[in-house]
Amino acid sequence: MTLGQRFARLVTLVVVRAPFLWRVFRKGMTRQFDRLAPEWDETRVSRERLAPMIAALEAAPTPRRSLDVGTGSGAVARLMAERWPEADVTGVDVSPGMVEEARRLGRQHYDVGDAAALPYGDGAFDLVTLNNMIPFFDEIARVTAPGGHVAIAYSMGPRTPIWVPLERVRAELERRGFLHVADFKAGTGVALLARRP
Ligand SMILES: C[S@@+](CC[C@H](N)C(=O)[O-])C[C@H]1O[C@@H](n2cnc3c(N)ncnc32)[C@H](O)[C@@H]1O
Repeated sequence: MTLGQRFARLVTLVVVRAPFLWRVFRKGMTRQFDRLAPEWDETRVSRERLAPMIAALEAAPTPRRSLDVGTGSGAVARLMAERWPEADVTGVDVSPGMVEEARRLGRQHYDVGDAAALPYGDGAFDLVTLNNMIPFFDEIARVTAPGGHVAIAYSMGPRTPIWVPLERVRAELERRGFLHVADFKAGTGVALLARRP
């Protein structure tokens, strides 16, 4: 793992246990992803890497409004727009450089925003996705509409620099009232789909 990947892994470990510490790392993480943004889509995004998220999306009902959190160059937002042309798809990322790339590559709506304090109303989305992203569970739960779904994927399983074991993801979501729908293994990674009753 590169130094940057080790940093991302450390931040993930800390922030999942103590979300309030995110503010300590926010600047550093934003800078790191701003630096990576121009080459991200070409070097880190592929159909194989997206396979776990695709498996979870295939099991999710058609959304009216979906949100991809930590969207990076917008790969998952584009996937959703391709799969559900009628859906209103938004991507959000803390890195302005990533959002610029996402806007360059796709026509979905993209915002610069922090997953720790999402700039959206309660229950605004009926599908929320995170691919290789640190989950801020309270905010995920807040913006997911009743009856809505959450899909969380890690494209290289435990080898993904930003990685949270699915048992942990499931437990945190269940603590907030979500029901587990299914786990998926595809390509080199894993994913989970949950539903808010
Ligand atoms: C490993 S990349 C994954 C990007 C994209 N989901 C993909 O699979 O290609 C993690 C992304 O999450 C973003 N990110 C990290 N922490 C964030 C936060 N608190 N709020 C919003 N975006 C965040 C980073 O800027 C980066 O674009």
